[in-house]
Amino acid sequence: MVLPNINEAKKRTKNKVKFIYDEYNITSDMKIGTGKTYYIKTYGCQMNEHDTELLSAILEDMNFTKANNMENADLILLNTCAIRENAHNKVFGMLGRIKHLKETKKDIIVGLCGCMAQEESVALNIKNKYKWVDLVFGTHNIHKLPDLLIESQNKKHQEIEVYSIEGDIIENLPYKRANKYKAWVNIMYGCDKFCTYCIVPYTRGKQRSRKKEDILKEINDLIKDGVQEITLLGQNVNAYGKDLYDDYKMENLLEDVAKINIPRIRFVTSHPWDFTDNMIEVIAKYKNVMPFIHLPVQSGSNKILKLMGRRYTKEEYITLFNKIKEKIPNASITTDIIVGFPGETEEDFNETIELVNTCKFDLAYTFIYSPREGTPASKMEDKVSIEEKSHRLETLNELINKYAKKSNDKLLNKIVPVLIEGISEKNDNILTGYTDTNKLVNVVGDKDNIGKIIDVKITDVKTWSLDGEEYIKNKCHN
Ligand code: SAH
Ligand code: SF4
Ligand code: F3S
Repeated sequence: MVLPNINEAKKRTKNKVKFIYDEYNITSDMKIGTGKTYYIKTYGCQMNEHDTELLSAILEDMNFTKANNMENADLILLNTCAIRENAHNKVFGMLGRIKHLKETKKDIIVGLCGCMAQEESVALNIKNKYKWVDLVFGTHNIHKLPDLLIESQNKKHQEIEVYSIEGDIIENLPYKRANKYKAWVNIMYGCDKFCTYCIVPYTRGKQRSRKKEDILKEINDLIKDGVQEITLLGQNVNAYGKDLYDDYKMENLLEDVAKINIPRIRFVTSHPWDFTDNMIEVIAKYKNVMPFIHLPVQSGSNKILKLMGRRYTKEEYITLFNKIKEKIPNASITTDIIVGFPGETEEDFNETIELVNTCKFDLAYTFIYSPREGTPASKMEDKVSIEEKSHRLETLNELINKYAKKSNDKLLNKIVPVLIEGISEKNDNILTGYTDTNKLVNVVGDKDNIGKIIDVKITDVKTWSLDGEEYIKNKCHN
């Protein structure tokens, strides 16, 4: 048994990261999944979604097949998120459901992994109160799933293996991509920013960049499989390379990726701190780098930004924002905002409102601050009531929605490129896809267009999505 430890997770070692190319190997005695099914419930960010693609591929290599629902599965994995308290509550609620299931179907195997598993208190809670959970593993040993699964089955008792210190970078891992035309590509793991409210640096370890040649090779292979859009993935992609190279940064990687013949490139998430002028130049220069930037601001108050440890001021953020808009006029910029951070006064909140009125974001993800055990902010004095925080969130959301609708309004009757991904879940006759600026569009058009980027005329505009029809040049449009 290996339990996580928060003090260990805080440490940043000088250990050189090793790159390992031949670690993952499924031998015939590991194929214990024949005739069995798996179901993975994923919580949290794109990083976790992508980890689930890895978990799925590993399980399928072990001969498990995917179940269409949890009730039918022989193996259930919860790939969890620790970012806010409500993410926790959802997982414990789900464990309650699974416990019932396990009472009627004794043989099902249940595992918990992801960021919650990295938390000391969660791992201990599972060890002491959820003894029926067969398997707990963290974010640093996903590739060890086959060994852990076999071990827990052989020993017939709970297997917990969660490492606090990140390991090496394992290459040549398999992924079962959820989308045929869009793919995530990890460019780095972990985060060293230690924003005072955030648990990610503890659950994902220190920043480790993948080698550029491994990233480029993965992208080239994806293109051969027909992928049209790739998203470069990291908690703080703009810091790419800093831990690995002297003179190769995110702007260089982005340019090298842009030179590959792939129609669409995106990247998430950008921390404003590392966003260089050269980055803006590269985005502006290459047509296949999408004009879409997720640029979390978190707060509009300099006092709160300082307490959050974000390392920029409101003024610096606005300068960067304006520079991007000036060089890339059609850029869609979205953000994340936290309300109710410890010490946030009405005045601080009003400064956030002011900033939103200045930037008029295309979209924003808004959250009430949630104290995370072990983070510096969780020890700060917090006097604002939950009612007040909820009220601030509501006020902010109203404004965010207003600007989201306004930015969508600008597209009415315009012709925009849309990558058609598939058929709408709600209506068989409607296709769905995303614009270059990452807006969801419901499209009336030919099903043959699935997997292609087509011109779409926007016919109606809502807050969260657009409606449109396939636009064919020289056809008589009324
Ligand atoms: N790496 C990204 C953010 C990852 S977490 C970045 O730095 O931009 C996604 C969002 O969750 C954050 O941007 C923040 O707005 C929110 N978040 C993180 N920790 C939080 C907490 N303790 N309480 C509330 N929201 C939080
Ligand atoms: Fe968390 Fe800050 Fe790192 Fe983003 S940059 S993952 S908010 S510590
Ligand atoms: Fe959640 Fe971990 Fe992502 S805490 S937001 S799943 S990195």
